[in-house]
Amino acid sequence: MTFKKHAPLKGEITVPGDKSISHRAVMFGALAEGTTEVTNFLQGADCLSTIRCFRMLGIDIENTPERILIHGKGLHGLTAPADTLDTGNSGTTTRLISGILAGQRFSSVINGDSSIQSRPMKRIMEPLTQMGADIVSLKDNGCAPLCIRKSHLHGIHYSSPVASAQVKSCVLLAGLYADSPTSVTEPQLSRNHTELMLAGFGADVESHGTTATILPDPALHAEKITVPGDISSAAYFIAAGLMIPGSEILIQNVGINPTRDGILRVVRDMGGDISILNKKISGGEPVADLLVKYSTLHGTDIGGSIIPALIDELPVIAVLACMAEGTTVIRDAQELKVKESNRIDVMVKNLTAMGAHVTAADDGMIIRGGQPLHGAVIDSHLDHRIAMSFAIAALAADGETEITGADCVNISYPNFYETLKALMV
Ligand code: S3P
Repeated sequence: MTFKKHAPLKGEITVPGDKSISHRAVMFGALAEGTTEVTNFLQGADCLSTIRCFRMLGIDIENTPERILIHGKGLHGLTAPADTLDTGNSGTTTRLISGILAGQRFSSVINGDSSIQSRPMKRIMEPLTQMGADIVSLKDNGCAPLCIRKSHLHGIHYSSPVASAQVKSCVLLAGLYADSPTSVTEPQLSRNHTELMLAGFGADVESHGTTATILPDPALHAEKITVPGDISSAAYFIAAGLMIPGSEILIQNVGINPTRDGILRVVRDMGGDISILNKKISGGEPVADLLVKYSTLHGTDIGGSIIPALIDELPVIAVLACMAEGTTVIRDAQELKVKESNRIDVMVKNLTAMGAHVTAADDGMIIRGGQPLHGAVIDSHLDHRIAMSFAIAALAADGETEITGADCVNISYPNFYETLKALMV
């Protein structure tokens, strides 16, 4: 797909439902008694992988454009799958479902695409094994395919070496099936959608600082969930609005949970003009409209406890930093290396190809902003966030940019290019 320089971007948009919340709505709905109704569900390939897996586990799920209905069977109602559970490209599906499967009275095998087969699973195998789970990597390399056999789970206190909501959620979900309480402490607080939503479904979950604790065997009841717009999808339009001259974009109904809103704090710190309007609580999560206006930006330092709150937004923040005056340093973000692609290497290589001055570090990158960008051939590595970040970079670059594998945006944002086009006045 090819892109050309374009200014300005103007208009009002909504972004699709939050990916993390959509996954969890299906999973927790499946484990609840009764029918859970979800509106504004993200119909992206990752969330469809979650639906596919739970259907294979015996859950009836009706998926229509208006809403999805999950006919839950209670905590002990899943049934053995006839085949390998295919989690596609989705790390969230793979890691969270592993926690649930560890507590079942049947065995199962999980596998995904080639990206999933190279992502680290030891981070969940380790705590699940401590709980008494029988989980092995079938290739013996700490990656999927994973085989999970039935076993008896004990509650543990797990001190996680990484701030990862996928690890935390996996352990808490296994904790539903343990014989005593389970808690997880992380080095920094990661997104807390599991804690918030599971409590809404009737689980006994408590959070204090960076520790979350869950009690076993709750009676989960069905819920009605309206999924807020995904701030990780809004991020591309936040960046575009701030860096493309003359732009003004209103992004309606975006989730601004404090464990996810790091991008808002960073762009303000860079001098970005972004207003947070009509703040309200919807389905237990804070949402707001974001009004973004073209701004003169300066570089900043990004590191420490804010990293988990913007980890998925760092690729597009790196693009934004190229358009800012001065240097931006991204630290403490080693996790970027184990996402859908190695996002440090892929960002540095592709931004450099466009004329940016970027250096890779072991835990992030250093970006010297203010260099004019030019078009280039960009390899997305089939990573949706790389493709979307460079579609935005291309709008500010001289000449033509070609993005290979651009269709991979359907993982999290199937209508991304249509929405982008609608803003090109
Ligand atoms: C997610 C957690 C994050 C994030 C991913 C979604 C979740 O991953 O990058 O896109 O829904 O729990 P980690 O938990 O590995 O940091």
